[in-house]
Amino acid sequence: MTSAGRLDGKVALVTGAAAGLGRAAAVRMAEQGARVVVTDILDEAGNDAASEIGASARFERLDVTRPEDWGRAMKATLEAFGRLDVLVNNAGVVILGDIESLSLEAWRLVHAVNLDGVFLGCRHGVEAMKGGGGGSIVNLSSVSGLVGGHNLAAYNSSKGGVRLLTKSVALHCARAGYGIRCNSVHPTFIETAMVRSMIEASDDPERTRRKLARQIPLGGIGEPDDVAHMIVYLASDESKFVTGAEFVIDGGVTAQ
Ligand SMILES: NC(=O)c1ccc[n+]([C@@H]2O[C@H](COP(=O)([O-])OP(=O)(O)OC[C@H]3O[C@@H](n4cnc5c(N)ncnc54)[C@H](O)[C@@H]3O)[C@@H](O)[C@H]2O)c1
Repeated sequence: MTSAGRLDGKVALVTGAAAGLGRAAAVRMAEQGARVVVTDILDEAGNDAASEIGASARFERLDVTRPEDWGRAMKATLEAFGRLDVLVNNAGVVILGDIESLSLEAWRLVHAVNLDGVFLGCRHGVEAMKGGGGGSIVNLSSVSGLVGGHNLAAYNSSKGGVRLLTKSVALHCARAGYGIRCNSVHPTFIETAMVRSMIEASDDPERTRRKLARQIPLGGIGEPDDVAHMIVYLASDESKFVTGAEFVIDGGVTAQ
């Protein structure tokens, strides 16, 4: 007997899904029966991720900072699959820098991807979902959207913005009766290219990795699936009474 998938019949679009957490979320949602639109600015890796998933996935190029890309990707999704039920605003970048050293250019780039990108995604997602029986929007914030770091001025600001933008979208959609939920996810260090590049940029990468692991009460850096499983829950109807909420996946870091 085959068991029913938790996302059977649903169509999901994931940004920044060529790699890392977005890719893991796309794979795990497809395993639960969703058809998935993998989007990214990396054509080759994005096509790879869609091929790995198989016939239930397709790749669309989508730079989250570009309104015209959002319009095109949404149109392609509705033409290919007829609906949108789940949007995962996952694409993000980090540039280290404190308030004295960070350039204005870096500040603007981080906010363009991490915050403008989520704003555009929520706006297009609501537009696509509101006539079709509702849906679920999942925004990737971070523990850095909850607590500060001395060299994370732009990243902290952008991820803190995502946390409260999420609540505003959730309340607007609830008030309008759209049946659209919106929640944020807050991971700590998870083993992806983003974290590897931060570790490798330090003077002593091995020491930095051990230091990071020591800061996490559960004893190490997380895996992409630790986040992907939460996204599957938020995408599914199991979370139908959950909106405007924040989900911390941090091995106990912010419990201290
Ligand atoms: N890995 C972690 O430890 C961690 C922790 C907390 C939060 N996050 C957040 O989770 C999300 C995913 O992180 P990750 O670790 O998988 O990162 P990653 O760098 O491994 O992957 C990010 C993906 O986003 C894509 N991307 C970058 N700019 C884009 C743009 N303008 N438009 C579309 N796609 C773009 C990249 O091409 C890449 O495929 C990010 O929002 C990140 O801030 C990650």
